[in-house]
Amino acid sequence: MHLVIVSGTVFGTADLVADEAQNFCEAGGLKVSRLKALNLDALLALQPEALLVCTSTTGMGELPEPLVPLFHEMRDRFPLFTAVPFGVIALGDAAYGDTFCQAGEEFRELLLELQAREIEPMLRLDASETVTPETDAEPWLQRFVVALQG
Ligand SMILES: Cc1cc2nc3c(=O)[nH]c(=O)nc-3n(C[C@H](O)[C@H](O)[C@H](O)COP(=O)(O)O)c2cc1C
Repeated sequence: MHLVIVSGTVFGTADLVADEAQNFCEAGGLKVSRLKALNLDALLALQPEALLVCTSTTGMGELPEPLVPLFHEMRDRFPLFTAVPFGVIALGDAAYGDTFCQAGEEFRELLLELQAREIEPMLRLDASETVTPETDAEPWLQRFVVALQG
């Protein structure tokens, strides 16, 4: 099972969570690649068998800038990921109210439109509640790995 991790950050936290996710999933026996060039051709070239998106939210519920081109390309070219298992780890801050974790929500909805299959409900990491998001993600990652192997 080849898992591709896509992460998008403003201040680096989502990348730290993605680092932890990579270590965790590799320890669980998965082959893991990080998408380095955040564009659709690079993603397709990796031939992902599973996807994990780690993204924070910025602005008024916006995607972090590095993820915007990939998101638009996926929405415009509409590559189907039929039945490809995926999960989303969304970083945000509940103090932002309605836009809490909205970038994660948008990526999740796009992947569902592209017919990918969510295997674990989206994890929301609230910066107003935790200062250790990378370790807080572990129980979720554990379930994600088990679901991928099952
Ligand atoms: C300017 C700014 C705007 C933000 N807007 C939102 C938002 O709309 N919704 C949300 O849930 N979190 C928002 N956040 C909180 C960040 O998503 C949160 O702090 C996250 O942990 C940052 O992760 P990063 O280091 O990967 O960028 C915002 C933070 C900043 C500084």
